[in-house]
Order: sequence, then structure tokens, then C-alpha cells
Amino acid sequence: MMKRIAVLTSGGDAPGMNAAIRAVVRTALYHGMETIGVMKGYEGLMDGECLTLDRAAVGGIIHRGGTILRTARSERFKTDAGLRAALVQMENRKVDALVVIGGDGSFRGAEKLCAMGLPVIGIPGTIDNDIAGTDVTIGYDTALNTALSAVQKLRDTASSHDRLFIVEVMGRDAGFLALDVAVSTGAEYVVVPEIPLDIKKMCDHLHYSRKRGKTHSLIILAEGVMSALELRNQLQDTGGYDARVTVLGYIQRGGSPSSLDTILASRMGSFAVESLLQGKTGVMVGTVCGAMSLCPLEDAWKAAKELNPELLALVDKLSV
Ligand code: ADP
Ligand code: F6P
Repeated sequence: MMKRIAVLTSGGDAPGMNAAIRAVVRTALYHGMETIGVMKGYEGLMDGECLTLDRAAVGGIIHRGGTILRTARSERFKTDAGLRAALVQMENRKVDALVVIGGDGSFRGAEKLCAMGLPVIGIPGTIDNDIAGTDVTIGYDTALNTALSAVQKLRDTASSHDRLFIVEVMGRDAGFLALDVAVSTGAEYVVVPEIPLDIKKMCDHLHYSRKRGKTHSLIILAEGVMSALELRNQLQDTGGYDARVTVLGYIQRGGSPSSLDTILASRMGSFAVESLLQGKTGVMVGTVCGAMSLCPLEDAWKAAKELNPELLALVDKLSV
């Protein structure tokens, strides 16, 4: 019989993490269980920085960006001593299971804890959407919409000045965010880590669209390929273009979660607790074709998540 669970957020924060924490706590309470909140991810887990999260503690947070539990990246946790320290803290507090909200790095750590005997379940929270086993991760939709509204503003000035703009978006080593930003802003070109960059082809494409009468252009660049300044220099050297550069940066991680993210986080948080109650461990919650699902934690980093080729073709097709 499960009595007490713990929850933490780890890695980069993502809008919707608070809604997920709230759903975990409230679902646990619904089933008569207590939830311990662990501060600062694995750092707080090793140091025992914990507090009891009652109904009121998660009131008024569903709409807030960031994470009330704070988050961290921790090198110490990757060591055997770090993992053991975390387990001791959980044993001392008689925690029956741990909910980890984070990205693939966080799940690597979670799986190690699981292998050492602590029941663990993962909830994918990252603006990168780079986790296999789920259609989408918590925070992705909000980041996409933040980037969309920023790029729409840049298009106004690009068109007024007949300029070429390079906009660098986040995504770590993946191009999901860049591709969806490109499609939703009607960008002329997208550069993603999954497809090798052909700078000559890009210059030809820009050249022909200018010839056809386009006065301004937008290139969306995923941060995992190179920096926007580097791409600007390559465009100058190869095609003589004088591009303006904008790096959207951390603004993409902030803000209130969209309704899609809030609903997704609420569903995932609740489903995680229901799954623990059914004895599931070492798994990650996801949605597949919109339905709640579970997959092994290791799928988060071992299984490949592909960019949608239809969307890649669409950027080309619609920017002729
Ligand atoms: P994300 O979870 O967003 O991918 P990170 O890759 O920074 O973010 O991972 C978050 C934390 O998870 C790391 O700072 C580290 O403490 C832990 N972690 C990552 N990889 C491992 C690993 N191989 N073993 C143990 N812990 C890990
Ligand atoms: O994983 C989320 C993310 O925002 C990536 O898009 C980005 O590359 C990285 O985190 C930045 O990490 P940090 O906050 O450590 O600079």
C-alpha cells in the first residue's frame, strides 16, 4: 500500500511544470496519499531539501511558468555517492515512489535510482520536445507560441526594411522547435541538426525568391546546428548576403503555459500517480496519438524521435 510519494523537477524548466506538480499532489490526495516536494531537482534530493505539499501548497500555481520546486543540473548526482545519498534521503522519509519531471538527462538519473530499488516514474517536461515515447512534451507548445509571436514581430521589421533575418531558436540537439516555428511563421528556410546544411543551396533558394519578387526573408535556425552569427558569416561569404540576427534565447522557456500545455501537464501528472498505484515503475508517461501511454524510461534517450518529413517538405513547398 503506497502512502507517500515524492516529486521533483530537473533539467531546464518548462512552462506547465507547475500544473504537473499540482496534478501529482491532488491525485495523490484523492487516493489518500501524501506528497513530498523535493527542491532543486537532484541537488535537493541528495541534500534532503524537502517539504510536504498539501492541497494549499499547489493552489494558485496552475497558470504559473517556471517551477515552484526550482530545478537544477547536477554533476554530483551522476556519481555513485550522489545516487546513494539520494536513496538514503528517500528511505529516511519513507517515500514509496518518486515522480521525476524533466528531460532525457533527468530520466537517465531516474533509471539509475530505479535500478537501485526506488520505484520511479517520469513525466516529460522540456521545451525541446526531443523525447521519444510521447507525441509532445510539457512546455513545447508554449515555447512554440512564444517564438511564433516574436518571429511575427521580426517579420514586420524585415518586410519594412526589405531585410533578411536569421532567427535562432532553442531545441538543444533537436530541430522540432525550429521546424514548427518555420512552418507557423511561413519562413523561407529552416536549418535543423537532423538535415546537413547546404549553404550553397540556401543561397540559391534566397536568390531565386528575390528574383521572383520577394523583398524580405526569414531563416529559422536551430541552436544545435551553429550560432546565428556563424550562419550570418557563411551567408555573407557564400552569397554576399547581409543578414540581421536575432537569438530568441531563454524567453522561450518562460511565461504562463498555453491551454494545451496546462491540460497535457494535468493529464500527465495525474496519470503518473494512477500508474504508480497500479505498480508501474521505471516508465515514462506520454501521449501517443493523444491517448495516455507508458513506455520504458530508457526510450527517452535510446529511441529516435524523427522530424515530420511532411513538415520539412512544407517549408520548401510554401516558400516558393
Ligand atoms: P534534461 O533532463 O532537461 O535533459 P539534463 O541533461 O541537464 O537536463 O539532465 C538533468 C540532470 O539529470 C543532470 O544535471 C544530472 O544531474 C542528471 N543526469 C543526466 N544524465 C545522467 C546520467 N547519465 N546519470 C545520472 N544522472 C544524470
Ligand atoms: O533543454 C532545454 C533548454 O532550454 C535547451 O533548449 C537549451 O539548449 C538548454 O536548455 C539551455 O540550458 P541552460 O539553462 O543550462 O543554459
